[in-house]
Amino acid sequence: MTTILAIESSCDDTSAAVLRDRVVLSNVIASQKVHEQYGGVVPELASRAHQQNIIPVVDAAIKQAGIAKEEIDAVGFTRGPGLLGSLLVGVSFAKSFATAIDRPLIEVNHLQAHVLSHFIDRGEPMPQFPFICLLVSGGHTQILLLKDYFDIECLGTTIDDAAGEAIDKAAKIMDLGYPGGPVIDRLAKDGDANAYRFATPHIAGYDYSFSGIKTSFLYFLRDRLKEDPDFIEHHKADLCASIQKTIVDFLLKKVERAAIDHKVRQLAIAGGVSANSLLRSELQRICQKHHWQAFIPPFSFCTDNAAMVAIAAHFKYQRGEYADISLPPYTRS
Ligand code: KG4
Ligand code: ZN
Repeated sequence: MTTILAIESSCDDTSAAVLRDRVVLSNVIASQKVHEQYGGVVPELASRAHQQNIIPVVDAAIKQAGIAKEEIDAVGFTRGPGLLGSLLVGVSFAKSFATAIDRPLIEVNHLQAHVLSHFIDRGEPMPQFPFICLLVSGGHTQILLLKDYFDIECLGTTIDDAAGEAIDKAAKIMDLGYPGGPVIDRLAKDGDANAYRFATPHIAGYDYSFSGIKTSFLYFLRDRLKEDPDFIEHHKADLCASIQKTIVDFLLKKVERAAIDHKVRQLAIAGGVSANSLLRSELQRICQKHHWQAFIPPFSFCTDNAAMVAIAAHFKYQRGEYADISLPPYTRS
């Protein structure tokens, strides 16, 4: 039996989780509301909020799990990529805690953690290697080919903005608040996804580019607003549905191509944008069409959380891959 305590603090969520073998005993997340008024994450405020949240969050995770500190076998933590000030809080806490309870430390890459969340035991089927995972978050957009837990080939990536960033920027243009992804998802349900078309760029291979979509959305609205200053208000649902469909179609077209080319019959999604309802239903549709299997994470494992860090740490613990106390965080992948 292995019990892991894991810490996640790479961006604006402070999270701690306890995992026993592959089962989540607790997964506590403190999201930081302070950034909403600024329309994006303010790094300085994020690190301060992590500092305030980290002890109560870890305390709650241990209490909810119903375990004693002595039962923890190792402490996992997100080492990067992420915001330096945010990471430093979680990394320093994990080091101190592991030292205090005299247990090994395990460093985890945040992106691997998102993908490995599919191996948390929820009593549901898990993907078998090899499979393809689309990792879509506020900071990353990658098509990954998983050959083993830590044998991951990046087939394609964005050359500029991440998909979540593009959605959040479109929401910002429409003054929908931050983060805009969930708002666009909700409003799109009442809209016509074919009302407007926004050009998607031709990028070679499995790479993506999202900055052009954002610009064409901006210019389209600028022109329409000249004719009708209330254009956004009058057509909000159609705008949300159309931009969401543009982004989801673009994402999945390349994933489908990658699966065909690599003869892979299992597709997974991970990261914050994998909470998007159209992305989830379209992935299902594509997989049904080809008789492939779709793996869609529960909402609690889509956005940043420590349970995904714990499962990655669990596999590293089994391999005896411990981290040195002197390891610094890293900000880029
Ligand atoms: O993985 P995550 O929590 O943080 C990063 O590592 O970036 O992802 C956050 C991103 C944000 O861009 C947010 O708008 C997006 O995930 N997101 C969504 C939805 N829920 C969260 N995007 C579209 N539809 C959603 N339902
Ligand atoms: Zn993330």
